[in-house]
Amino acid sequence: MFHNVLGESIMKIAREKKLVSFYLHNIRDYSNDKHKCVDDKPYGGGAGMVMKPEPVFNAVEAVEAQDNLTPTKILLTPQGETLNQEIAGNLSKKARLMIICGHYEGFDERIRSGIDVLEISIGDYVLTGGEIPAMVVIDSVVRLVPGVLGGNNSLQDESFVNRLLEYPQYTRPAEFRGMKVPEILKSGHHTKIEEWRMKEAIVRTQERRPDLLEEKTK
Ligand code: ADE
Repeated sequence: MFHNVLGESIMKIAREKKLVSFYLHNIRDYSNDKHKCVDDKPYGGGAGMVMKPEPVFNAVEAVEAQDNLTPTKILLTPQGETLNQEIAGNLSKKARLMIICGHYEGFDERIRSGIDVLEISIGDYVLTGGEIPAMVVIDSVVRLVPGVLGGNNSLQDESFVNRLLEYPQYTRPAEFRGMKVPEILKSGHHTKIEEWRMKEAIVRTQERRPDLLEEKTK
C-alpha cells in the first residue's frame, strides 16, 4: 500500500530531492509470537481484535534505537485529535515523525498510555486500519516541507490557511459553454484582484464553513 503512494508524484519528487525520506517497518516483524501475531481478542469480550502491546512497544523501541533523532510519535486512531492544516503545518517542522498504524479494531490501551504519542484521527468515520490515515497525514505534511512544492504563493492562498476556504479559480478559456471568467481577473489590476479574491474567500467560507470564521474571531 505504502510503496505505491510514496513512490508516485509529489512524494516521489520530494524523496528524489532528498527533502524527505520514508522508512517502512512491519510491526509483525517485532512480534515475539511464533505465528507473528500482533492482535488478540479483547478482554471482557466483544467484537473484533485488539492490537497487542508487545509488538508495538518492541517496534517503537527498536526503530527509535536506530539513530539519535527523537521522533514525534503519532498514533492513528478515530479517537485522536482531528487532523487539520495547522496540525499538518506543525508536523512538517519536525525532524522526524514516527507514524504508528494498526489494522484492527483498536489498540490495547497501554499503547496509548505507555508510549508518548500524539493521537490523530483523519475524520469522524471509522476505517479498517490506520494505513490510509497514515498516508493522508504523510501527504498533508510532506507537501508543506519547504522546497517540496515549487514557488510558493500557492501555499499561502490555499484553503484553510488563514482559516478561509480558497477563492474561486479560473484558467483558460475565458468563456466555456457560456460561462465567463470574471472581468476583474483579466484586468491585470493586482490590488483589485487581491481585494476580489479576499471578498470571495470570505463569502465562500461564510456559505460553506461558517465554523471556520467563528473560530477565527474567537
Ligand atoms: N483508523 C481507523 N479509522 C481512523 C480514522 N478515522 N482516523 C485515523 N485512524 C483511523
